Amino acid sequence: MIPERAFGMMRGMRVDLEQVLRHSGELQRARTLLELTRTIDRLVRGVSRYRASWIAWFAPERPNEVRILAATGPVEALVRETPVVPRGTYPLLDELAATGQPVIVPDARVDPRSNKELVAQLGCRTVVNVPVMLGGTIHGALGVGTFDDQGVVTPTEEELVSLVSLGALLGPALDRVQALEDRDRIFLERAALERHLESLQRVEMMGLLSAGIAHDLNNLLQVTVASLGRIKPESLGHDGELLVDALDALAHIRAIAKNLVHLGRESSTGAQRVSLTERVATTLEIVMPSIPRGVRIVRSAHGDPVVDAEPTQIDQAITNLVLNARDAVGDVGRINVDVSEHELDARAVLDRPGSRPGRWGVVQVRDSGPGIARDQITKIFDPLFTTKPAGTGLGLAVVSRIAERHGGFVAVSSPPGEGACFELFLPAR
Ligand SMILES: Nc1ncnc2c1ncn2[C@@H]1O[C@H](COP(=O)(O)OP(=O)(O)OP(=O)(O)O)[C@@H](O)[C@H]1O
Ligand SMILES: [Mg+2]
Repeated sequence: MIPERAFGMMRGMRVDLEQVLRHSGELQRARTLLELTRTIDRLVRGVSRYRASWIAWFAPERPNEVRILAATGPVEALVRETPVVPRGTYPLLDELAATGQPVIVPDARVDPRSNKELVAQLGCRTVVNVPVMLGGTIHGALGVGTFDDQGVVTPTEEELVSLVSLGALLGPALDRVQALEDRDRIFLERAALERHLESLQRVEMMGLLSAGIAHDLNNLLQVTVASLGRIKPESLGHDGELLVDALDALAHIRAIAKNLVHLGRESSTGAQRVSLTERVATTLEIVMPSIPRGVRIVRSAHGDPVVDAEPTQIDQAITNLVLNARDAVGDVGRINVDVSEHELDARAVLDRPGSRPGRWGVVQVRDSGPGIARDQITKIFDPLFTTKPAGTGLGLAVVSRIAERHGGFVAVSSPPGEGACFELFLPAR
């Protein structure tokens, strides 16, 4: 598209050069799209009687869609809902893209070119769209208009010249702001990656440390179990049951301690075919005594996924998730533990870091507690991060470590007012 086309209708009109320079300077100062939108809206109000504006973008790599980057006035709510629309939705913008000329519609209610449904919905009266140029081609439109009571306001020659010059200045300013925002995004992504790496290194360190402690604990536990094992439950009468319970719990503690020793080692050992439904049943039986009476545990299963895993490690991961849910709900509430099998396709894996397409066995632990604050959700897997007076902050670090060891990952979500939901994904056999 030849740039002169956009300005063809302005030939012979007087352009206020000083104003153009001032506007250019103001637009160059904006560093974000939001700042740019505010500046353009202010400048539009300064040079015309229009009180609402919008910026449309025709990305060359997406010729079939129009992206509305920003809007003020009645258009704002519409754009917030659907910022990207197929070409054809806004015929006035399509006309501008095709002709390269400003499109002026004095009264959209009676103009044959306007989208009448939209006009009625928004209460449009006058609509003026001028081209946004970049590198000699039309890349978008700057639109202004009136609505409802403001009535029809046809632009004067002076207003039109100012708007067309604003549209021309807007192209490079938008390009620069988008480049700045891309740069910031890349910077943030890199920072997030670095944080993740740091936390992995910390997990590695904690793994080694806990392996050392667990090794000593394991030896002491062995002595304790051996000593208690010498007492005959029958000799204690009714209390014999207590001894049996204590020995069961000790056996589980030993399994966990052994597990911690494994966590410190490089590779997982002793993987076998494991039914997740079975692991959940076993784990819940063991943790049940520590769940308050007022907390209801609801178990469900959709399929019976089988994974290659070390059963005690899976038990430990489920235990940590359920105990966190217990801590979150307090004395009264609900914990849902669901086992299911999921197929993730190439699209779905994009939203789930650490995943790949294929079949997954999933253990979901959902609670009715207060959920996790937005600013904390990125930290909860960091080793030593805890909000509990007696917490170690290791529980979730261990869960994600176990998931990674088995080629899986952990997903967490906490929609406002709905409690927390953790999902342990393990590759299904
Ligand atoms: N279900 C949940 N609901 C709300 N917050 C949670 C939930 N699970 C974890 N958290 C938050 O994540 C933090 C870290 O959890 P993690 O299991 O790693 O350690 P912890 O529970 O604090 O300590 P420990 O596991 O040693 O008892 C918790 O302190 C809590 O703030
Ligand atoms: Mg915990």
